[in-house]
Amino acid sequence: MMDSAALRQSFLDFFKSKEHQIVPSASLMPSSPNLQFTNAGMNQFVPYFLGEQAAPWPRAADTQKCIRAGGKHNDLEDVGFDTYHHTFFEMLGNWSFNDYFKAEAIEWAWELLTKVWGLPKERLYATVYQPGEGDPADFDQEAYDFWKAIFEKEGLDPQVHIRMGNKADNFWMMGETGPCGPCSELHIDLTPKGDTKGELVNADSPYCIEIWNLVFIQFNAEANGSFKPLKQKHIDTGMGFERVAGIIATTKNFTDYSQPPSNYNSDLFLDIFKHISNMSGRSYGFTMPENRDDLSGEELNDVIFRVLADHIRTLSFSIADGIVPGNADRNYTLRRILRRAVMFGRRLDLKPGFFTKLVDPLVDKMGPFFPELEARRDIIRDVISGEEKSFDRTIDRGLQLFDRINERALVRDLPHFEENLKNLEKTYGTGVDLEKHIRQNYGHTDLEELRRIYGIESNGVIYGTEAFELYDTYGFPLDLTELLARERNLVVDLVGFEAEMEKQRERARKAQVKTVISVVDQDEKIHSTQFAGYDVNDLTGFTTELIGTFTGEDADFLVTAQSPFYAEMGGQVGDTGSITLADGTKVEVTNTITDGVGHHLHQVAKGDYQGQIGSHVTMDVDVARRRKIQRHHSATHMLNWALRETLGDHVQQAGSLVSPDHLRFDFRHHAAITPEQLEQIERMVNGRILENAGVQWFEVPFSDKPEDVVAVFGEKYGSVVRVVDIGGYSKELCGGAHVTATGELGLLKVKSESAIAAGTRRIEAVCGEAAFEMASQNYAELHHMASKLSCKPAEIEERLEKLLASNKELEKQLRAMEQKQAAAQGGSLIDTAVDKDGIKWLAGKVSVANPNDMRGLGVDLQKKLGPSVVILGGVFGPKVTVLALCSPEAIAAGIKAGDIIKNLTAKLGGKGGGKPDFAMGGGSDASALDGALKEVVA
Ligand code: ALA
Repeated sequence: MMDSAALRQSFLDFFKSKEHQIVPSASLMPSSPNLQFTNAGMNQFVPYFLGEQAAPWPRAADTQKCIRAGGKHNDLEDVGFDTYHHTFFEMLGNWSFNDYFKAEAIEWAWELLTKVWGLPKERLYATVYQPGEGDPADFDQEAYDFWKAIFEKEGLDPQVHIRMGNKADNFWMMGETGPCGPCSELHIDLTPKGDTKGELVNADSPYCIEIWNLVFIQFNAEANGSFKPLKQKHIDTGMGFERVAGIIATTKNFTDYSQPPSNYNSDLFLDIFKHISNMSGRSYGFTMPENRDDLSGEELNDVIFRVLADHIRTLSFSIADGIVPGNADRNYTLRRILRRAVMFGRRLDLKPGFFTKLVDPLVDKMGPFFPELEARRDIIRDVISGEEKSFDRTIDRGLQLFDRINERALVRDLPHFEENLKNLEKTYGTGVDLEKHIRQNYGHTDLEELRRIYGIESNGVIYGTEAFELYDTYGFPLDLTELLARERNLVVDLVGFEAEMEKQRERARKAQVKTVISVVDQDEKIHSTQFAGYDVNDLTGFTTELIGTFTGEDADFLVTAQSPFYAEMGGQVGDTGSITLADGTKVEVTNTITDGVGHHLHQVAKGDYQGQIGSHVTMDVDVARRRKIQRHHSATHMLNWALRETLGDHVQQAGSLVSPDHLRFDFRHHAAITPEQLEQIERMVNGRILENAGVQWFEVPFSDKPEDVVAVFGEKYGSVVRVVDIGGYSKELCGGAHVTATGELGLLKVKSESAIAAGTRRIEAVCGEAAFEMASQNYAELHHMASKLSCKPAEIEERLEKLLASNKELEKQLRAMEQKQAAAQGGSLIDTAVDKDGIKWLAGKVSVANPNDMRGLGVDLQKKLGPSVVILGGVFGPKVTVLALCSPEAIAAGIKAGDIIKNLTAKLGGKGGGKPDFAMGGGSDASALDGALKEVVA
């Protein structure tokens, strides 16, 4: 029986024998800004499909690393709960770039599956595109005819073995826009008898699953919803590698259909399960959840095994490709996946750090085919470990929050709870202590007891806002909150949660610049924009042709044959400026971005630009702004150089932002940076600035790049790369815009240095005008402070120290005075005590610093009075606080502090209560205090 490695190799060998070029998987970091991750084998070939670049080979095949989590294809919440979804998977594919088409694609698919791998023909079903109402294109007669011939030749009835599907099932689109076309899928019937006659095809059954999708790329989906036929036709296929490996393993090479099929049954996952077993002392039980809402212990155990094995693959492969967990976009998706794994792992009682321990087994397993895993083993481990540790701390806080929500949910339906709580909050402000509230209002804190007394059946609801807070702030996936809730017999308000999610999505949508992929007719084809703006002399009065327009949600985008505008890329922000159209209208360019396939999109206000296509336009970049950007970009390289010189070569760029007014540089380094090191780094850069060395850039084939050039880890580089060389000491692969000599930077000042994640640090710095502004502002502030303190700037520190010391001394004295004053009040109050049946009653208004001091005073007074009832009141800001203390003798006489306070607070427009010996409460009516206190002792 073939194991997974043999299966993968066999696929590649087969297509090699059909004259396909075997290419490596592209990075998981997509080039299209519309994607979070590479999500299909075809992503890297989009420019060939659109005819923008010539394909280097007519045919190709590979296994492509894919992640479907976040974005159009998102399977995250299903992973673990079924047998065939993954966040990370390999897609085996073969491609034709305007070479062979449907006949060969179908014939070879059949040949590989049935002749080479021996899949049982009678269990295979092919689907063919038949448009439904409003769907694009026509019935795929060609594909139908090819399949019909094949099934007839095999003695199988085409009526049974060919199924039709509409756009939803048989028309493949990468996203809202982009290359697409009808497709034909192969499904396999895995029921014990294999006799379902195709009825389970596309019916969401684990017993009949799609294994291969053959897409016939014929159209481009345009932003306006139309499908524009492409001049050239292509083949794009995708086979679910884990699915086929799982089927071979489950059926013992197609000999035994007694077991339920599962992708997780192949060595790809079983080898990882072994390590989870070692750590947890449990084993994988091969169960499938019958009902996701009601899992048995064993089913939950297996869900967790699957979640962990899937998620360690996603995290490890992403990090190897330079995508690390973080706060936004794809990085945030990764963080959520890691957190989902850690939360599930905790439910197997796995010890903190367990997820990191899965890195080595995963790299051992997959490293032989994916060398990037082996090369980055240490980094993967470090990043996951750092994330896991910081999440462990977050979980503890999240679980505490969950407990509080749980309590709240339990008591929410007690009579008048919400109302009482609101009243209380009016008095004390929000954040009222729940336990105290229950004690004061219901006299109990045992919730179960309360529920019995009030006859409450339901166990309460976790509000959508609460589930969302757990999800958003503490990283609790919804399914986990539901599990925890279910165990406590609570329900989660899913509708409310979804409403919160929608609000968040809306916020994200607003923040996102939507880009589109579009093609125009061949004659007016949009070629990749040629960037012509590295030299500042070319930035203004630049004439070129307007060759297309793109429509976005809130803006339009103009595309020109050439452009001096830099499009946001590699951390450098996009240029702004203006474009003067042929008819003399000048439109402002508010940003420049790329669509990921080589066009510079100049963002302009919405308008009608179609009629101007083909005419000449004049482009003017905001030069002053660009020069500021260039300074910060060169400064980033120089900083990178100084960091490596000072801290070591392990310093790896992890992200950067280059803008007109500052730069941000994130890098991997494991220790804190001392102030001395930072100062040295700043000095080194400034020394180099004064040296005023020249900056050169040139292009070379990737293989001829200088040996000592620094490349950004995880970045995709083409066959020709651009080298930016600053003074011979800093050489980086970079497509950005730079100064021509370092003196232009003027001065560099580091604004801040901090840790942003485990092993990742951030430096923010300014240069040029921004540095001057900062220095001069700091200088002015210093002088201003000095004049306020009536000293020289150099004397500020000494002056401040003296002031602080004297402040401390004054506070001490004030405190002593307050205590003395309180004691004096006590002294005069004690004489007002009235004796009633041997118990001394004392009630008085005091003026002390805070309620706590009032309590201390009350305790003192009671000590002095012996058998007594002491009642004190005071006004603190807008609120009145009262307290009562009853000595044991008073309690024995039937007097209760709680009752006294209840009565008292009612007169003060508030609420309160407590135990017989001590009670405290408050109100808002200060004017009623004197009278109320008198009444108590009257
Ligand atoms: N591009 C097709 C898919 O991803 C093959 O399913």
